[in-house]
Amino acid sequence: MKAALIGANGQLGSDVLKKFRANDDEVLELYHSDVEVSNIDSVSNALRNKNIDLVINTSAMHNVEKCEQDPSLSFEINGIGARNLAIICNEINSVLMHISTDYVFDGSKQKPYIEADTPSPLNVYGNTKVSGENFISSIAKKYFIVRTSGVYGHNPCRAKGGLNFVDLMLKLSKDRPEIRVVNDEILTPSSTVEIARQLFQLSRTDAYGLYHATAEGSCSWYEFAKKIFELTNTKTNLNIANPNEFPMKVPRPKYSVLENCNLKKASLNIFKPWDEALKEYLDVK
Ligand SMILES: NC(=O)c1ccc[n+]([C@@H]2O[C@H](COP(=O)([O-])OP(=O)(O)OC[C@H]3O[C@@H](n4cnc5c(N)ncnc54)[C@H](OP(=O)(O)O)[C@@H]3O)[C@@H](O)[C@H]2O)c1
Repeated sequence: MKAALIGANGQLGSDVLKKFRANDDEVLELYHSDVEVSNIDSVSNALRNKNIDLVINTSAMHNVEKCEQDPSLSFEINGIGARNLAIICNEINSVLMHISTDYVFDGSKQKPYIEADTPSPLNVYGNTKVSGENFISSIAKKYFIVRTSGVYGHNPCRAKGGLNFVDLMLKLSKDRPEIRVVNDEILTPSSTVEIARQLFQLSRTDAYGLYHATAEGSCSWYEFAKKIFELTNTKTNLNIANPNEFPMKVPRPKYSVLENCNLKKASLNIFKPWDEALKEYLDVK
């Protein structure tokens, strides 16, 4: 199979590249300098006449605060960018695999969201990702839309900068006498290695459609931090932050757990529990 990978140097993209290459797939690595998804001519130039079977789009404008400050640009990249990819994938007869997010939901369900639940995003980022999903499902002939959550990987997230949550906690444990973390936001931490494995497995099928793809189980950010310190035997003074101690500048779902319902229905779910995947990331037994 020949794949084109948009965002090949991103947090997720770098592990997707490794996974597909390890299977001897030919992968055309595309960086932001090679393609601007919001510009259809750029997408066309990057993808046409290259015999590509699969386009994997990990690109996004996903710094939530920046999306809120510039909704037009966010829509151009997350909405129109997805539309451009869907149009060009049809023209070159390629499958489109597109990454989306748990932030399409508002969190009020308080039970794991399945693919049949109606999106109700709270912020610009979530709204523009929903628009990207809608463009793809209404235009692309062959697509996978894959929603994931709480992404962490060895390559830092380029849009957010700095360290991922795991590495940040380990750093703070050295730098600070006390660490305070919220206990009222529930998510599923998902490692890029695991997501890449699942994307690869899905790409070997023609079971096109919408998928939730996160690790199994869920936790609060505080429980996530606690597990990081337990697994690494790190002695630290970890405490639950008071409600509103870290006020959010932009509304985010307080509960964004996704159930991999469609993967399970198709017997394709290969995710481990989130704490097992964390052990692998930390390389501890
Ligand atoms: N991180 C999370 O917690 C999380 C959670 C749920 C879903 N997601 C989704 O997962 C996907 C991957 O996230 P990630 O953490 O791997 O992101 P990342 O590290 O920021 O990587 C994104 C990649 O896309 C490129 N890119 C950005 N804008 C582009 C554009 N307009 N045209 C072409 N390329 C562009 C970036 O290049 P430059 O950096 O050079 O611009 C970078 O290579 C995104 O779709 C995101 O919405 C992420």
